[in-house]
Amino acid sequence: MNMSQCLRPRSIFSNTSRTIAVWVGLAALTAAAASGGQSRHINAQRLQGNLEKLSEFGRNPEGGVTRLGFSQTEMDARTYVMDLMKEAGLQVRVDAAGNIFGRRAGTAQLPTLLFGSHIDSVPHGGSFDGSVGTLGAIEVIRTLNDGRVTTRHPLEVVVWTNEEGPHFGISALGSGVAAGVLGPEILDRKDEEGLTLADWLRRYGQDPAHLTDARIARGTLAAILELHIEQGPQLYETKVQIGVVQGIVGLKRWKCIATGFANHAGTTPMNRRKDALAAAAKDLLAVRDVVREEPGRQVGTVGYMKAEPGAPNVIPGRVEFPVELRDLDAATIERMWQHIQQRFAQTDKEEGVETRCAVINDIAPALSDPSVQSVIREAARSTGLSTADMPSGAVHDAGEISRLAPMGMIFVPSRDGISHAPQEFSAWDDVANGTEVLYRSILKLDKQMNAR
Ligand code: GLV
Ligand code: MN
Ligand code: MN
Repeated sequence: MNMSQCLRPRSIFSNTSRTIAVWVGLAALTAAAASGGQSRHINAQRLQGNLEKLSEFGRNPEGGVTRLGFSQTEMDARTYVMDLMKEAGLQVRVDAAGNIFGRRAGTAQLPTLLFGSHIDSVPHGGSFDGSVGTLGAIEVIRTLNDGRVTTRHPLEVVVWTNEEGPHFGISALGSGVAAGVLGPEILDRKDEEGLTLADWLRRYGQDPAHLTDARIARGTLAAILELHIEQGPQLYETKVQIGVVQGIVGLKRWKCIATGFANHAGTTPMNRRKDALAAAAKDLLAVRDVVREEPGRQVGTVGYMKAEPGAPNVIPGRVEFPVELRDLDAATIERMWQHIQQRFAQTDKEEGVETRCAVINDIAPALSDPSVQSVIREAARSTGLSTADMPSGAVHDAGEISRLAPMGMIFVPSRDGISHAPQEFSAWDDVANGTEVLYRSILKLDKQMNAR
């Protein structure tokens, strides 16, 4: 999809008055820019210290963390982060989906500038994905406090619930509920241990019957910003310091069950088998082939296969596997899925197996607001940082909230483009740069948005 086709023509800003308080902040910015354009307001050491502490929650011996959304480990990490929010003077509340908000009052009656990320991880993931944007947001508040800078808009730091989604198969869960794209239909979904999402919400101190109270009312947000690691190789390889995200891919995920017939592996002749794993293996390759068939940045993945009964001397009778497709264009995802289904049907016939798939997650592509992109670009340039415009192949909570308010994302480089793995790393200097850009972007948005 061509991004420029989708840019909204109107500017989100009007442009006249400003408060003394914002002047104080901007005067500081100007001073920083004048002194060579490189100096930062944010405290890089404090930020690194907090990130290192957060990375202790769920730390793995091989590096990185396992901190699944809806787990005791994440609950402990949430307590740590809420304490940081309180220390920063934020008024903390948790909504019915478990999303954490920390509010700093503004000087005017205006919609909220919302920014933050998530602290859950994939199994054996890295300690930068989500954590950088979350603790970067708290660092922005600490920096405003240190400089006694007030803003016209109220500011809220947010920590979204279960962004990654391996637990329950739903990515961007908390933000999806907040945006109104997910509702009570998800509550009965069960995890491996037989616990429902409703059970986990209760453990997180929430009443699942009130899930939809977490919906954010349209008009209450001025904008949503998210700082994040790129998770791909573009910035690192081109040595560009800041990525300005143009749009976030859509994602559709199915859970498929291939049903064959479990039988003796020694006595069942090869031509009389209904091997569900053999069929699923062909299905996996069909996904890869169909996705590769047309040019473009679309991707498709089968992330696991669970074969039952799972013994070396039994032909697998049942296999569960997910299919995940991503692209900036929802129509491309649908087209690929049609082809994949035809290939699955063909394999079923060949292998004597029946494969059924059901949608478990559907996230529409999201576009960044052009005016917010400009603000981020200017904020980076005023800090003396290079920028590149780029799409995001990962999904993000900010994408869901873009259904409600103008959205922008700031990316920083990921070493070797590695993410969702223990080797995930972003240089501390890059993390600090991204946080400074977030700080400056918030001040610029505060000045420019809803100005009278
Ligand atoms: C989240 O990081 C995703 O893109 O799956
Ligand atoms: Mn993330
Ligand atoms: Mn992730």
